Amino acid sequence: MHYILCKDQSWIKALKQEISENLSHDFTVAEGFPLIKLSQVADLQNTFLAFSTTALINAIELAEESIGKQAAKITELIIEKLGSEIKINCHVFSLTNKYGILETGRAEILKDKLIGNLKKSKIFCRRTDFERSLPFVQVLVLADRSIALSILDSSEMQDYHSLVSPYVGGFNNVEDDKKAPSRAYRKIVEAQELMGISISPQEVLVDLGASPGGWSYIARKQGAKVIALDRSPLREDLMDDPMVDFIQGDAFKYKVQQKIDWAVSDIISTPERVMELLDYWVLNNNCQHFIFTIKFQGDENYNILSQFKELAGKSNFKIILKRLNANKNEATIMGTQNI
Ligand SMILES: C[S@@+](CC[C@H](N)C(=O)[O-])C[C@H]1O[C@@H](n2cnc3c(N)ncnc32)[C@H](O)[C@@H]1O
Repeated sequence: MHYILCKDQSWIKALKQEISENLSHDFTVAEGFPLIKLSQVADLQNTFLAFSTTALINAIELAEESIGKQAAKITELIIEKLGSEIKINCHVFSLTNKYGILETGRAEILKDKLIGNLKKSKIFCRRTDFERSLPFVQVLVLADRSIALSILDSSEMQDYHSLVSPYVGGFNNVEDDKKAPSRAYRKIVEAQELMGISISPQEVLVDLGASPGGWSYIARKQGAKVIALDRSPLREDLMDDPMVDFIQGDAFKYKVQQKIDWAVSDIISTPERVMELLDYWVLNNNCQHFIFTIKFQGDENYNILSQFKELAGKSNFKIILKRLNANKNEATIMGTQNI
């Protein structure tokens, strides 16, 4: 069974629609939870589900038992699949209808037990950051104390790149930054975290539709040189920053002489125009990494995403398509060129 999670109940309708359009397989909605269970027959390799926050792929279901027994069984299954002497990402959480994703209570005790067991077999769980190149174990404790367990090896992590999240249960809360010129900064922070790639000092970032400057602000904070395009100026401190080159004009007309590190866009435009950006920047390899916001035209007009999925399949980029936590009536497409 695949366990497909989304942010909350309000996303279920769109997620159901997306699953029906993309995968002709049976699924059930877990009553009262932001969770859809999908038949394991569905092949999710290289699939995009923008309205899912994370997924437990090929999940094994384990019945309710004592925490010790459950931890022992999970350990056994991990060793059987991944061997020993390795590092893994490991998330253990429960899903409650009242509080959403929780890492406390039974999930916390189970995690401690599991980590202890795994250590004895020289399997080390990363404590903090998520490393996309490592195997990934997800343990979901359900309301009846049964468990869904998903174990992905490193190569499966590539196959399901757009479906699994570095955030526990797909839930995140980008840290507040009161100095940012706009709340939009949260999108570029969340996108980098999802990609597992950060803007580095000395890299060049082209910020399309940059005003008032939330995204440029984050890129500067991370040490990059910014080329910002908008019809309106940025906040004054960014306009005065010698590492920000502001160009007033139409961002769609901007072309580069040579490939740049990052192309990002938060332009308010139709999805069709974002496809033009994808064509220029991604399909024509004019950048190494990109993050583009797709603004939906009215509510529930989401089937436009299928055209983005098709384009993504034609590129030589590792792509993620998600509705971010920080997105309003939007989704975000992002990616990195395969080396
Ligand atoms: C949502 S705001 C961007 C917010 C910005 N990312 C931030 O963090 O502060 C969208 C911007 O796109 C700009 N925009 C819309 N069409 C544009 C175009 N054709 N060329 C340049 N900028 C454009 C608007 O002027 C607006 O400032």
